[in-house]
Amino acid sequence: MQSALEQLQEIRVQALAALNVEDLDLAGLAAWEKHYLSASGVIGEVLKQMGGLPTDERPLVGRETNAVKRELTSAWESRRTQMQEASLHTRLSQESIDITLPGRVPPIGTIHPISQMIDEVSEIFAYLGFETVFGPEVEIGKYNFDMLNIPANHPARDVWDTMIVDDDRDEIVLRTHTSPMQARVMEQRQPPVRVIVPGRVFRFEAQDASHEWMFHQIEGLAIDAHITMTDLKGVLTELARQLFGSATEIRFRCDFFPFVEPGVDFSVSCPFCKGKGCRVCKHSGWIELGGAGMVHPNVLRWVNYDPDLVQGFAFGLGVERLAMIKYGINDVRAFAANDVRFLRQFARADFGLGLVTA
Ligand code: DAH
Repeated sequence: MQSALEQLQEIRVQALAALNVEDLDLAGLAAWEKHYLSASGVIGEVLKQMGGLPTDERPLVGRETNAVKRELTSAWESRRTQMQEASLHTRLSQESIDITLPGRVPPIGTIHPISQMIDEVSEIFAYLGFETVFGPEVEIGKYNFDMLNIPANHPARDVWDTMIVDDDRDEIVLRTHTSPMQARVMEQRQPPVRVIVPGRVFRFEAQDASHEWMFHQIEGLAIDAHITMTDLKGVLTELARQLFGSATEIRFRCDFFPFVEPGVDFSVSCPFCKGKGCRVCKHSGWIELGGAGMVHPNVLRWVNYDPDLVQGFAFGLGVERLAMIKYGINDVRAFAANDVRFLRQFARADFGLGLVTA
């Protein structure tokens, strides 16, 4: 029968051979450790047999067993380190980054055509000395109507035009125009006043190619000691020429708005046919842009301005209208439809974020 020492030597030789097999993988290594080194492993078995040995052999066999166990443990540890390093090396070489590849550009949004239009108009008015201010979209009846000389029984207050938020408390509405800011600004400031107010407005209206329940206006207001209708025409002419070219003309026609007297609607000569008549201007030579007039004395009085000392003009422009003319768009619903294929056409390099990728 094999002596315990011979048995140990055989285990040692076998174990080291098995550990150094070329294609040993991590699973094989774990199995090896279990087989040789664990409590229930081969060396454990040798230790268990110690009790059956003659007493004088036990110390020698015990020492030898521990020595073999230490040797195998350290061989196993260095093999494990070596295998981990090898696998890390393989992974790193597979994962290497080619820094010469071009970067991926993330898709970037564009400035909405309506916002671009508002920016453009604000810039033109800034040159004319007008400050851009903003007002609340949720308004009270007092500013949306009363202060603008639209009394309680006026048809414009009818539920069919106005989206009402709360009729019980202060008649809270979604503003139907940007005009309420006229009174809000004049309440806060003393003349001279020169502001424009771009913003969203809301109407209780069915949608079609030329109607939206939400759209944008730009209100204008100028109050000073000697302002006349000529100033109004001059300012609107300058706007039209900056937007549509230096030959553009402005036309006034009588119209009624409760908060101006006299009131007009204003049109620009068609920039496409130069007033000769075409499809865009429906062969009239003119395209209507909005309403305007001289601020009604009542409106001035209600903000404690003296109509004998100051007067001024006001106007309201439809922003969608401007953009539709400028870009040749024939359906107003396109602006709020959120179709990126539509919106991307308005990418502008000079807006910085205009860079668009597929
Ligand atoms: N607020 C009017 C509308 O929404 C437009 C308007 C007309 C504004 C005449 C004005 C104005 O400031 O003077 O229809």
